[in-house]
This record gives sequence, structure tokens and C-alpha cells, in this order.
Amino acid sequence: MVKVLVTGGNGQLGTDVALLLKRHSYDVYAYGRDRLDITNQSQVQDVVRQIQPDVIIHTAAYTKVDQAETDSDMAYLVNAVGTRNIAVEAERYQAKLIYISTDYVFDGTADTPYSEFASVNPVSMYGKSKWAGEEFVRQLCSRFFIVRTSWVYGKHGHNFVKTMLRLAETRNELRVVHDQIGSPTYTVDLALFLLQLLQTEAYGTYHASNSGVCSWYEFACAIFEEAGLSHIQVHPIPTAEYPLPAPRPAYSVLDHMMIRLQNMSDLRHWREGLQSFLKEL
Ligand SMILES: NC(=O)c1ccc[n+]([C@@H]2O[C@H](COP(=O)([O-])OP(=O)(O)OC[C@H]3O[C@@H](n4cnc5c(N)ncnc54)[C@H](OP(=O)(O)O)[C@@H]3O)[C@@H](O)[C@H]2O)c1
Repeated sequence: MVKVLVTGGNGQLGTDVALLLKRHSYDVYAYGRDRLDITNQSQVQDVVRQIQPDVIIHTAAYTKVDQAETDSDMAYLVNAVGTRNIAVEAERYQAKLIYISTDYVFDGTADTPYSEFASVNPVSMYGKSKWAGEEFVRQLCSRFFIVRTSWVYGKHGHNFVKTMLRLAETRNELRVVHDQIGSPTYTVDLALFLLQLLQTEAYGTYHASNSGVCSWYEFACAIFEEAGLSHIQVHPIPTAEYPLPAPRPAYSVLDHMMIRLQNMSDLRHWREGLQSFLKEL
């Protein structure tokens, strides 16, 4: 049986990755921060030595994008140093490492999709710390996949879709940003892609989000349409009317060039992912 260690095992992606791999008969060790704090190097050494995994899927991260602006040491400790700790052990046991990264490594000033070969320029602390994690993986590991994804939502965590559904319980009107464009990604669809990837030796950096693009406003409209919530009126607003501490890339569409070049199956359209998610919920 192939042994897989999943970091961030209680997070929204980690949970669905673990469930999917178990269903496919993998020997899965999905550890949350309580059992595997990635910033604790000796604990990482002990856990990896005990399990001796064939594959490590590293989903654990400091994901509070706005808080990271004022808590940058913690963002770097988890996303960069924590990732280094995982990378060192992956290399020691020659495990394949899949590191989940983000569209926030780009500045979002482009007007065509970013391929895996495009230059990065993260504008937020979160994006910078995740990029620093990528750098450690590239420097320290010989068998790695870096998978950049975007706008993630799933059953087991807090996310935009759940927030919209909750707000619809008490509101008839909402204002949602229309000038940030990207691709929503359903955790189950991303997990299916990771399952495909880990069986290969096609190492490198991948862009993997659900296909198709939309703005947050369009995404919100789709959520209410698919959920049959016609009472709610959604108004498009510019980012300037909804200021947040961390800057977001305006255009963060990922070109899935490596998926194409490797003849892998791409992720389905975001709207189909959304339909499945709402059914599952
Ligand atoms: N969410 C998105 O929109 C998005 C977009 C692009 C990329 N990503 C990337 O996708 C991956 C999965 O994201 P997600 O949405 O599943 O995030 P999530 O639900 O916030 O899960 C991240 C998990 O990491 C854990 N964690 C934090 N610090 C840790 C530490 N020191 N040691 C061990 N675990 C720790 C968290 O545990 P606690 O709950 O105890 O803090 C949490 O369970 C992350 O690498 C993220 O950067 C996410």
C-alpha cells in the first residue's frame, strides 16, 4: 500500500484529499496541527521517521491573508520555514512532495492567463510567504510537485460559498466585488487532480484550478442561482469600495499549461464543481 502523509489534515483541502485517497485504498496519515505542527522541526522529523511515507501532500498553511499583513513573522514561519521542515524530511526519505501554493504569487496586472513559466511578483505577505515556501521546495527536494490553485472552497472549512449562503439567510441585497477575476476551485476536484499527479513522476510546477473564469460578483450570482435563492439581489462594486488590509491580484487566472503539456485530465468547469458542492452540502 502506498503511504501518504497529509499535512493540514483538518483543513478544507486536507480533509477532502484524505477522504479521496482512503477511498482509493491509499494508506493515509492525515495529521492536523495537533499531531504535526510543521513549525516544530523535531516533531516533523519524528512523524516522518515513524511513517516513512511514499508521498507527502503538504496542504498546511497560514491562510489568513489579511492578518498576514501585520503578522508576517507567523506567515513566514508556517508557510516558508514550516514548508522547509517538510521538504527536508521528504528528501531524506525520498518521498514525493506535493506542495500546495497559490495564485497570489502573481501580482495580477496581466490580462492573459499566467502560465507556470510566468514571472512571479507577489504583492501580499501571504503571497510572498507562500512563494518563499515554493523556493525551499525547489532548493531542497528532488521529487516535487508544486501545485498552485485559487479561490478554494469545500465542505470542511470557511470559504466564500458558505459565507454567501449564510448571508442569504438574513439579507436581501449584497454588494460583491466585480473587478477581481479568477477561477473558483472545489476541493474535491483539486483532490482528484492530486490523485492523478501523485501517480506520476512528471515533477514540476502545475496550475490547477477549476476551468473557466469569473469575478467574485459573477461567482456570487452563480451560487444564488444554483442554490435557488432568487430573493437576493447582488450588486457589482469595485474593489475600492470594499477595502481590505491585504492587496489582492486583480487578474489571477491560471493557465494550465503543464496539465496540457503532460496530457493530464484538466479540472472541470467551476460551475459544474459548484453544482456538485451544493448537492454535497
Ligand atoms: N483557500 C484558498 O482560497 C486557497 C487559494 C490558493 C491556495 N491555497 C492553499 O491551499 C492549501 C489548503 O488551503 P485550505 O483552504 O484548505 O486552508 P485551511 O482550511 O485554512 O487549512 C490549512 C490548515 O493548515 C493548518 N495549519 C496552520 N498552521 C499550521 C502549523 N503550524 N502546522 C500544521 N498545520 C497548520 C490549519 O490548522 P488550524 O486550523 O489549526 O490553524 C488548517 O487546518 C494551503 O496551502 C493554501 O495556502 C488556498
